[in-house]
Amino acid sequence: MEFEISSYKKEDSWEAEIIIGKKDKYKEFGFKCENEETLLLLERKKFIIAIDKLDEENIKIASAKIAKTLKEKTECFKIRAPKTRNIDILENFIEGFILGDYEFDKYKSKKAKHLKKVIISGNEELLQTAIRVATIRAKAINFTRDIVNSMPDEIYPVVMADIAKKVAKENGYECNIYDEKYLKKEGYGAFYAVAKASTHTPRLIHLAYKPKKAKKRVVLVGKGLTYDSGGLSLKPADFMVTMKSDKSGASAVLGIMKAVKELGLDVEVHGIIGATENMIGGNAYKPDDVLTAKNGKTIEVRNTDAEGRLVLADCLCYAQEHIKDFDYIFDFATLTGACVVALGEYTSGVMGYNDKTKNLVVEMGKKVAELYAPLPFNRYLPKLLKSNVADICNIASSRYGGAITAGLFLSEFIEEDNKDKWTHIDIAGPAFVEKDWGYNPHGATGAGVDMMLRLLYEIQK
Ligand code: BES
Ligand code: ZN
Ligand code: ZN
Repeated sequence: MEFEISSYKKEDSWEAEIIIGKKDKYKEFGFKCENEETLLLLERKKFIIAIDKLDEENIKIASAKIAKTLKEKTECFKIRAPKTRNIDILENFIEGFILGDYEFDKYKSKKAKHLKKVIISGNEELLQTAIRVATIRAKAINFTRDIVNSMPDEIYPVVMADIAKKVAKENGYECNIYDEKYLKKEGYGAFYAVAKASTHTPRLIHLAYKPKKAKKRVVLVGKGLTYDSGGLSLKPADFMVTMKSDKSGASAVLGIMKAVKELGLDVEVHGIIGATENMIGGNAYKPDDVLTAKNGKTIEVRNTDAEGRLVLADCLCYAQEHIKDFDYIFDFATLTGACVVALGEYTSGVMGYNDKTKNLVVEMGKKVAELYAPLPFNRYLPKLLKSNVADICNIASSRYGGAITAGLFLSEFIEEDNKDKWTHIDIAGPAFVEKDWGYNPHGATGAGVDMMLRLLYEIQK
């Protein structure tokens, strides 16, 4: 899709209009100007959407709805940019078109229609910046969506590594990839155990973008379960469907890595991915097994479906051992169904010991119209992870507070000096939703990508 900045010419093309606040316009068509209300005037070649006020979220949703509707009718339309100097709003305005134009049609015989050009009138200087930034960010989100939506038989750990290699090659990043032999030999016993029963061998992937004189150093860790069957603690049939999306954290990390160089961010960014399947088989890891993670801690397995935290534990150990003096370490994971129960499908849970960073995630989320909510640790919940046979158990003894106890499990693999630098983001809800919502289509959303790119921009200032 391309954008053209041009004055508002009267020409015979399709036109879209965003109405802000209650107005009497189009009253003759019974249009009430209610939030997200739309009107399609076929003869006039016009599509109208109303929002109750101009903010980051409304504008992104409005643009996406415009793109989604008009791509079925035309390849090109014109629109007036909202009158604002708020660059976040203008970026979301542009992003919305690219996100709304997205459709996952890889496995369909009939391919989707797409927009080719959007002609925008408004402040040229501001729009130029917004178009440049928004295009990079939205393409990164769509790149993540494509990976997550692709079926498990197509995207397995070696393929995730190939995608990482391609991103590294295109951007001049460092890229190190480790296989199951390395995991076994070097003592990544938790990650190794999860991967054992799969015919697809695991990969630990490490990408690094190192601009000269970077202002900050950030580590991003992603859960990359290219399929989560639950393992021997097998998921019921209805819960297994959509588990191709258990690689959403890793895919978000890949999307973010793809964009950091293009955006020219002055931050050193490391992307670490634990890519594996969680399968059944004669050599599968079992409930009752005791695993030893890279930091020496022993883990009693009581449920093989709590596999993400095992993979992440070792990836967090790898990160802290290989990357020195970082300022922040974030992990992204579709970690718990409990997080979805707690917050609903549209909000990610944010956990850690640093209130400032947790708030920063929530704030940056607001700027890009992604929803984040802090889930608080407390002194009582860690006791639920006690094991009688090992240092810690991979599931809590209570059925309540599962998102937080999963976060607390991960915290056991964060060194004391790094506790304040670490933030865990559970994207189990918004990463993949089987109906469209807001500016998102059915399926993968690319949750986390936009917020993190905005955050990286913020901390380099
Ligand atoms: N990948 C799942 C979590 C999940 C559930 C993600 C639903 C997206 C949607 C994770 O590996 C898992 O199965 N977690 C268990 C943990 C339990 C065994 C303690 C869960 O949430 O039920
Ligand atoms: Zn699982
Ligand atoms: Zn999982």
